[in-house]
Amino acid sequence: MRIDSRHYRTIWENADGSVEAIDQTSLPHRFETKRLASLDDAVAAIATMVVRGAPLIGVTGAYGLALAAAADPGDEAIEEAHSRLAAARPTAVNLRWALDRMRRLLLSAAPSDRRALAFAEAAAIADDDALCCESIGDHGAALICAAAAEHPGRPVNILTHCNAGWLAAVDWGTALAPIYKAARDGIDLHVWVDETRPRNQGASLTAFELSGEGIPHTVIADNTGGHLMQHGLVDLCIVGSDRTTRIGDVCNKIGTYLKALAAHDNGVPFYVALPSSTIDWAMRDGVAEIPIEQRDASEVTHISGLADNGAVTRVRVTPKGSPAANYAFDVTPARLVGALISERGVCAASEAGLRGLFPDLA
Ligand code: MRU
Repeated sequence: MRIDSRHYRTIWENADGSVEAIDQTSLPHRFETKRLASLDDAVAAIATMVVRGAPLIGVTGAYGLALAAAADPGDEAIEEAHSRLAAARPTAVNLRWALDRMRRLLLSAAPSDRRALAFAEAAAIADDDALCCESIGDHGAALICAAAAEHPGRPVNILTHCNAGWLAAVDWGTALAPIYKAARDGIDLHVWVDETRPRNQGASLTAFELSGEGIPHTVIADNTGGHLMQHGLVDLCIVGSDRTTRIGDVCNKIGTYLKALAAHDNGVPFYVALPSSTIDWAMRDGVAEIPIEQRDASEVTHISGLADNGAVTRVRVTPKGSPAANYAFDVTPARLVGALISERGVCAASEAGLRGLFPDLA
């Protein structure tokens, strides 16, 4: 997708065998990239959220294993790299999915072939992700077009939470892909962007993406969505997923559940867009089973932004000594999800719905 009219992916290979990623901790105020030259660099990039978003974490994990195999292609080194990368962030299942795919391939090959194979497989995972997200865009755009037909003469108002755009994937994104496709098809639309405390991925990253694509949008405080829905100002919600259970429960950025409840109460369709790499076929009950990442409390007690003097500044927003808790994700039960939008089409958030689209994976 575009930054200053130039097409970018979030992650790519350098000619010297290292990997380059857009540094998302610097956006929206500075565009910077980070060079990942080792397993340590890849683990740190995932843990510190230089790269984030379920699909992109998976692709970075794959490149992390490739960097590890380049340094030491032995079985033990690959197993250790797999464990360290998998532990970098616990909730998004795409990370483990990509690492398992890499490990299977590498351990079945001769050590001398592993470096080349690993980079080729990581690149294939990245390319697959971009294709999946583009398909999600095509399937989801049809839902937006249908909503537009119901409300002629005014923009379709779509609410989204966190950043499930191209910055969260390799290209296109999940929840934002249908929006990009519908906008390119000429649909008049407007996006309500939840700021998404504590790290503000909506205010910083989603707003940055939508600006880059020229999509009309408005950033709102996290608690605004319910009010907007009560007043008919939201036609549909689309969010992403970090892990989807086989019965259609969806785990996404903290606060997603409250938006789904408000949507349910107000009869607003609530859609979740996800590539199949996000489905955890081994889990059923998302609330009981999905591990919820808890991050450092300083992400809640402090906030950073651009000061009037042009410096990026971090300030405290709580009294010193007030404890804070930082749950990074929550689970929306399938009963609150209107439909799932995947690379193979749209289905009910249910075991039958997912099985119908993915009989080969289920
Ligand atoms: O903590 P983050 O920024 O990695 O959380 C990202 C999200 O919650 C996204 O909505 C999710 O990964 C789906 S991304 C396409």
